[in-house]
Amino acid sequence: MARPVGTITRGTTNPNRLRRMDRWIASVLGPELRRAADPVAVDLGYGAAPWTAVELLGRLRTVRPDAVVVGLEIDPARVAAAEPYRRDGLTFAHGGFEVALPGGTGRRPVLIRAANVLRQYDEGDVPAVWDRLRARLAPGGLLVEGTCDEIGRRHVWVAIGPEGPRTVTFATRLGSLDRPSDLAERLPKALIHRNVPGEPVHAFLTEFDRAWATAAPFASLGARQRWIRSVRLLAEGGWPVTDRADRWRQGEVTVRWEALAPRGS
Ligand SMILES: C[S@@+](CC[C@H](N)C(=O)[O-])C[C@H]1O[C@@H](n2cnc3c(N)ncnc32)[C@H](O)[C@@H]1O
Repeated sequence: MARPVGTITRGTTNPNRLRRMDRWIASVLGPELRRAADPVAVDLGYGAAPWTAVELLGRLRTVRPDAVVVGLEIDPARVAAAEPYRRDGLTFAHGGFEVALPGGTGRRPVLIRAANVLRQYDEGDVPAVWDRLRARLAPGGLLVEGTCDEIGRRHVWVAIGPEGPRTVTFATRLGSLDRPSDLAERLPKALIHRNVPGEPVHAFLTEFDRAWATAAPFASLGARQRWIRSVRLLAEGGWPVTDRADRWRQGEVTVRWEALAPRGS
């Protein structure tokens, strides 16, 4: 077998860490997953233990009962460590950004999820990795690439279709939030070094904090109402928010990629 593309990095993971991302994927990708001829998803870089792959399978099966998940890891020791978790619909394989699935080269995943993987690569690596991964997607498939804290209270991810990046989603446990820009420390690799004046993502987080301050009176109704009000203010101010209040209620907001993309990209 050819050497997998990429490098072994820290394997830190935690049970339940990616629940916000899993829920979003099941909702947004649900229609595509239901009609997929081959409902296969990849958890790329699942880490030292395969909990995130186990949980992704459970979440996808609420949408599509015969969904399958392949956990791909570039560290062979982590593939061996995952074997006891193999079960109906869940397999593990040694692999990297080439995303070679067991069952043949013609097989294309409807989802590639890469969480907390690119964070340890260089910013300059990101465009080529995205291009390589999205080229592996089934038509209508989605690459979800992002970062979160150790216990999944703060999360930011980019959703990328076969044609290129589509959206950026911010998701947080609202009770733990001082201000929206607390999420800056969890920006994905493509954006984290761009949170500086003059860059769109910095302007967005600055305006989000301003909206949060304006919405302070809503705090008496709870952090959720304050978040919803803040997102509404952002949308009224012209930021291309693509989702609705049912997602905002969960401490999420999704914005079109073009509005946050680094200058010159
Ligand atoms: C920090 S862990 C993330 C674990 C899990 N996804 C999570 O979010 O909790 C990153 C993992 O990605 C793996 N990795 C890094 N580059 C990879 C690549 N090109 N292909 C597959 N796995 C990779 C590393 O070996 C490591 O186990």
